[in-house]
Order: sequence, then structure tokens, then C-alpha cells
Amino acid sequence: MQIIHEIDVDGPTHGRIEALRNDACPEYAVARSYYKQLPNLRALQFDGADLVGTMGLDYRAMAVGDAVVKILGVIDFCVAAHARGQGIGSTMLRALIAYATARNVDFVILMADDPRLYARHGFQRVEAHASWLRIHEHKSYGIAFAHIDDLYVKQIGDKAWPDGHVDWLGYMF
Ligand SMILES: CC(C)(COP(=O)(O)OP(=O)(O)OC[C@H]1O[C@@H](n2cnc3c(N)ncnc32)[C@H](O)[C@@H]1OP(=O)(O)O)[C@@H](O)C(=O)NCCC(=O)NCCS
Repeated sequence: MQIIHEIDVDGPTHGRIEALRNDACPEYAVARSYYKQLPNLRALQFDGADLVGTMGLDYRAMAVGDAVVKILGVIDFCVAAHARGQGIGSTMLRALIAYATARNVDFVILMADDPRLYARHGFQRVEAHASWLRIHEHKSYGIAFAHIDDLYVKQIGDKAWPDGHVDWLGYMF
């Protein structure tokens, strides 16, 4: 899996990410390669010349309870429909965890309705009150406050996920 800066993603690759993302998440299909905001980094999984998997990645400080944690957030993780169930998603998660482990990251985090794959890779569910910046179609709508129960965190460093309110300090992935 390649992990590159989003600023280095070329036009044709944005087009392939857009097609893959819209096919995988039709209810969130949009005419661009990202849903809310450009990510910092882009993970790309190729099978020969075919792009078969992608995820956006954001490196961010988040406030949790009284602590500040450095997270690598996974955005729009998807594998091409014809390539699913063959371990590509798992390969990508393993590569991501290795990437984070070699860097200054406390947790890899993601939002998920279906925890199966993530539980297998050591992610734990977090339930908490949370706040984040609401963004929709390139407009900001203020700060949301809500209870969330679909946040999954994978501990990378030696800190355990702190108790308390999760302030995303930006938009939610
Ligand atoms: C989630 C996804 C990336 C997994 O990729 P993959 O290459 O199929 O993953 P693997 O082959 O390593 O593992 C497959 C296992 O993941 C689990 N799984 C399947 N769909 C899943 C989903 N949407 N979320 C979490 N886990 C899932 C299942 O346990 C599956 O095993 P099974 O087929 O034996 O039941 C892929 O199914 C996908 O792109 N889904 C559509 C988009 C999506 O829902 N993305 C996540 C939220 S944006």
C-alpha cells in the first residue's frame, strides 16, 4: 500500500478514487474524490495497474477528557466490489497500523457501523459525548454536540484511550 500526500495525488488518480468511493458508498456519492474535506494523506492499494483500495488519512490532535491525543483518522475506507473478501482490506489495515507505529501517533481511529473487520485488527469501540465541526457540501454549520457509539480506536502508543468528552477539534471523519 502506498501512502502519499494528498497534494501529490494527480488528476487521473483523483478520478479513480472518486469512482471507487462512489461505487463503494453510493448513498454518499459526490462528484469529487472526498466527501467533506481533502484529507492530509491518501493510502492507495493497487493490484497491478488497478486501484483496488483507498482510504483518506488525517493526522490531528484531538482533546479527550483532560488529555490531548495524536490520532491518525481513517476516512472513506473502501475496496473495489470485485476485490472484496480476499483480504485486501486487512492488508491495508495492517500496513496502516505499521505506518502509524513507526510514527508519532497515539491512536488510529475510524467511524464504523459494522465493526467486524476493525475488531479483528484490535480496534475498540468508544462511547462518549463528542463535539465536532459540522460541514456539508463545503459549508460550515457550527459545532455539533452528540453522544456517539460508533467510534473505533486502535491504540498505537502506550497511552490508553482517555475517558471523557471527545472534542474532534475539526470535522468528524
Ligand atoms: C469494508 C471493506 C473496506 C473491507 O474490505 P475487504 O477487502 O473486503 O476486507 P477483507 O477481505 O480483509 O475482510 C473481509 C471481512 O470484513 C468484514 N466486513 C465486510 N464488510 C464490512 C464493512 N462494511 N465494514 C466492516 N467490516 C466488514 C467481514 O467480516 C468480511 O469477512 P467475511 O466476508 O468472511 O464475513 C469493504 O467491504 C468495502 O469497501 N465495503 C464498502 C465500503 C464501506 O463500507 N467502507 C467502510 C465505511 S466508509
